[in-house]
Amino acid sequence: MPAKIISGTQIAGQIREDLQKEIAGLKEKHGVIPGLATILVGDDPASGIYVGQKEKSCRNLGIYSKRVDLPAETSEKDLLSIIDKLNKDPQIHGVLVQLPLPEHIDEYSVICAIDPDKDVDGFHPVNVGKMMLGKRCFIPCTPHGILELLLRSNIQTEGAEVVIVGRSNIVGKPILNLMLQKRPGGNATVTICHTRTKNLEFHTKRADILIAAIGRPKTISGDMVKEGVVVIDVGVNRVGKTPEGKSILSGDVDFDSVKEKAAAITPVPGGVGPMTIVMLMKNTVEAAFLNRGRKSEVREQ
Ligand code: GUN
Repeated sequence: MPAKIISGTQIAGQIREDLQKEIAGLKEKHGVIPGLATILVGDDPASGIYVGQKEKSCRNLGIYSKRVDLPAETSEKDLLSIIDKLNKDPQIHGVLVQLPLPEHIDEYSVICAIDPDKDVDGFHPVNVGKMMLGKRCFIPCTPHGILELLLRSNIQTEGAEVVIVGRSNIVGKPILNLMLQKRPGGNATVTICHTRTKNLEFHTKRADILIAAIGRPKTISGDMVKEGVVVIDVGVNRVGKTPEGKSILSGDVDFDSVKEKAAAITPVPGGVGPMTIVMLMKNTVEAAFLNRGRKSEVREQ
């Protein structure tokens, strides 16, 4: 039987409706309008599109959005100084630096410069550490979105064999942690595969839930999965252009062959992508709520 399609577009829409109410409440009860600053260094077209989508989503929800576009030659010192100003700006509750950064800028130093209370990406070591320990923190948007997709689609994770392909700091490692935790969406047995994994197919074929975050188009084919698997495709690969100049996107999963065996699958586009953006909005609203009336004291959990 062909797979159920898990629509990230639809689920993100439900979350946006809840957020609209929260944003109205924040304004009414506390006089606070959530604010997100996005920083883009350089002119990578894909990064430009992502930042544009984040800005647009803020606008649609009534979140104040401040976009900072910087030339590729910007020095690390200047970038750190801009982050410092945003950390101190009471109108800004979330600070996001779009990755990747140009090579001459040290990504870790930049992430560490963001106030952990404004780190709506959940990349700061303070938030990463708290997440590992199961404490309240900002959870990175893509893994958080994947968890919501699974929870809202009533997919059983407890005791499930989850196989993640890809070990990035943004997706693979955080989703591994989240799905191990003793709470809804967790309690899974998790395996993580990567470029040095000896027999990828051996692992993918065991998966009850397969999360593909590889960054290479159509890497997972139908003959690599078992019947009834739930497949979450994190890949957004630009594989060509339409005659009108629009990008043609492909996931990391060969959708056509895998959907014939899967119980459920996310499409690309319209799967994980919209969830990443809405979880960023959710983290920004949470940052505004937690830091209302405060500047930048360390938030206790
Ligand atoms: N680049 C790719 N994904 C992300 C993300 O979730 N946040 C940031 N800041 N940069 C990214």
